[in-house]
Amino acid sequence: MKNWLLFAATVIIVVLVALLAHSIMDRKAEARFAYQPKVAIEGMEPRDSVWGLNYPRQYQSYMRTRDTTFRSMYNTSGFKDILDQYPELVILWAGYGFSRDYNHPRGHAWAVTDVHNTLRTGAPMEPGDGPMPSTCWTCKSSDVPRLMQEMGVTEFYSKMMSDMGSEVINPIGCADCHNPETMNLTITRPALIEAFDRMGRDINKASHQEMRSLVCAQCHVEYYFDEERPGSEGAQYLTFPWDDGLGVEDMEYYFDQRGFADWIHPLSRAPMLKAQHPDWELYKKGVHAKRGVSCADCHMPYRTEGGQKFTDHHIGSPLANIENSCFICHREKTDDLLTDVYERQRKVKEGSEKLQRLIAKGHIEAAKAWELGAAEEDMKDILQGLRHSQWRWDFVVASHGGAFHAPLESSRILTSATDIIQDTRIQLTRLLARLGHIEEVAMPDFTSKSALQAYIGLDMDKKRAEKEVFLEEVVPRWMEEGRQREKEMPVKMIN
Ligand code: HEC
Ligand code: HEC
Ligand code: HEC
Ligand code: HEC
Repeated sequence: MKNWLLFAATVIIVVLVALLAHSIMDRKAEARFAYQPKVAIEGMEPRDSVWGLNYPRQYQSYMRTRDTTFRSMYNTSGFKDILDQYPELVILWAGYGFSRDYNHPRGHAWAVTDVHNTLRTGAPMEPGDGPMPSTCWTCKSSDVPRLMQEMGVTEFYSKMMSDMGSEVINPIGCADCHNPETMNLTITRPALIEAFDRMGRDINKASHQEMRSLVCAQCHVEYYFDEERPGSEGAQYLTFPWDDGLGVEDMEYYFDQRGFADWIHPLSRAPMLKAQHPDWELYKKGVHAKRGVSCADCHMPYRTEGGQKFTDHHIGSPLANIENSCFICHREKTDDLLTDVYERQRKVKEGSEKLQRLIAKGHIEAAKAWELGAAEEDMKDILQGLRHSQWRWDFVVASHGGAFHAPLESSRILTSATDIIQDTRIQLTRLLARLGHIEEVAMPDFTSKSALQAYIGLDMDKKRAEKEVFLEEVVPRWMEEGRQREKEMPVKMIN
C-alpha cells in the first residue's frame, strides 16, 4: 500500500514537472517565435525602421523614447538645464565644455540631435574641424558599429566628429544591442570587451542575466580617451579605466598613476578629471545588483499586449511604470515604493549640493593664492585635494541613477569628498594667511549662470550665434547626405 502511494505521488509529480516545463517552453516560444520575419536583416543594419518590420512591438515601444513628457521629483525625459539649476557648476567646470552647457539626459531617440544641439561641441563647419574627435559619437548611434566594421576601430577613433557628420544619423538602436540573426543580446562596443579582457574576464562567458546589464554598460559607464594606446597612437581611443577595480578610488588611482588630466582648471590650475556617467559601476555596488537584478529588469520590464508577452523597449524612468518595473519582486504599495526612491535621492542630493558649493569656493580661493604669489610647492596638496574631491563628487552626480541604484555607496563617496575639500580649504586658509590675506576671499554671485559664465570669461552670445549657423546650414546638409546614402542600402523583403 505504502509503495503504491509512493508510486502515485511520483507519477503526479512527474506529470506536474512536465506540465511546468512545457508551459515555460511555451512562453519562451511565444517570446521567440511569435514573429513572421518580413525582411532579411543582414550585417550591421543601423535603421530601426527596418528591424521594426520584423519586430513591431519592440520597435513601437522603443520609439516611445522620443516621448519627453515624463517627470519625477528629480529626473525627467524632457529638457532640463542643469547649469541653470546649479550655477556654481560653471565654476567647477571652468575651462571645460561643460561650463557652457549641461542638460539632463533624455531618451535614446534624442542622442544624435542632442549632440548637434549642445554648445559643448562647438560648431564644426567643415570636415576635419576640431576640437571634438569622432570618438564622441561612440555611444550615440547605431551607425557606429557599422562604421567600425567598415573602417576599422582605430581609424574610426582617429577622425574628427565633423568627418562623420553625414555618416552618423541614426540614434542608438536595435543594432547596438542585438545580433540580427539570432536576436541574442550582443556587445558591439570594443571598449567594453577590451576592459573585460584587461580585468582577466571573458565577456563571451557572461550569463544571460549579466548580459541584460552589460548591453547598457557599453555606454552608461566611466570612460576616457587614451591617446597613448600602443598600436593606436594619436587616435582618441575610447577606454574604460577599470584595470584597478570598479570603485571610485580605484579609478582615481588609475588616473593618478598615469598622470592623466581631462583639463587644467584655469582658476586653481588643478589637473582635473571629468567623471562621465558611471551608472553600471555604481549600480554594481548596490543591493539590487548584489541580488542579481539587472538594468533591464527595472528599465525594460515585460509587458503583455494582445495576449503577447514582450520586453517593453520604452527605456526611461521606471517610476513611470512602477507596477511593471517593481511589482515582479516587491509587494509594497506604489506610493511606498515611490517614497523609498525619493527619500534616497533627496538624501544623496543634500550631500552633493553642499559639496559642490565648497569645491567652487576652493577653486576661487586657490586662484587668490596664486595671485598673491603662492609657490608650486605650497599648492601641490591643495590642487590634489581639488582634483580628488571634484572627481568623487562628479562620479556620484554624473551617474544619474546612482542615488537610487546605490544610495549607501553614493553617500559614502560624497562624505569622503567633503572631508577632502574641507581639509583642502583649511590648508588654503593657512596659506592665504601666510601670504597676508586674512579676510574672506570675495566670491561671485553663485545664483546666476550667466553672471558666472561672464566671471570665467565665456562669451556665450558668440557661441550661440555660431551654433545657430551650424544648426541651420550644416546639420540639414549632413542629414540629407545621410538619407541619400541610405537609399542605396538594400532592404531585402522575404515573400
Ligand atoms: C539598449 C539595448 C537594446 C536596444 C537598443 C534594443 N533592444 Fe531589444 N532587447 C533588449 C533586452 C535587454 C532584451 C531582453 C532580452 C532577454 O532577456 O533575452 C531585448 C529583447 C528583444 C527581443 C526578444 C523578444 C522580447 O520582447 O523579449 C526582440 C525581438 C527585440 N528585443 C527587438 C528589438 C528591436 C526591434 C529593437 C530596435 C527597435 C531593439 N530590440 C532595441 C535590449 C535592447
Ligand atoms: C549606445 C549607447 C547606449 C546604450 C547601449 C544604452 N544607452 Fe541609455 N543613454 C545613452 C545616451 C547617449 C543617453 C542620453 C541621450 C540624450 O540625452 O539625448 C541615454 C539615456 C538613457 C536614459 C535616460 C532616459 C530618460 O528618459 O530620462 C536611461 C534611463 C537609459 N539611457 C537607460 C539605459 C539602459 C537601461 C540601457 C540598457 C538596456 C541603456 N540605456 C543602453 C546611451 C546608451
Ligand atoms: C527582479 C527583482 C527586483 C525588482 C524588479 C526590483 N527589486 Fe527592489 N529589491 C529586490 C531585492 C532582492 C532587494 C533586496 C531585499 C533583500 O535582500 O532583503 C530589493 C531592495 C529594494 C529596496 C531596499 C534597498 C535599499 O536601497 O535600501 C528598495 C527601496 C527597492 N528594492 C525598491 C525597488 C523599486 C522602486 C523597484 C522598481 C523600480 C525595484 N525595487 C525593483 C528585488 C527587486
Ligand atoms: C531596481 C531597479 C533598477 C535597476 C536594477 C536599475 N535602475 Fe536605473 N533607475 C531606477 C530608478 C527607480 C531610477 C530613478 C528614476 C527617476 O528618478 O525618475 C533610475 C534612474 C536611472 C537613470 C537616470 C534617468 C534619468 O532620467 O536621468 C539612468 C541613466 C539609469 N537608471 C540607468 C540604469 C542602468 C544603466 C542600470 C544597470 C547598470 C540601471 N539603471 C539599473 C531603477 C533601476
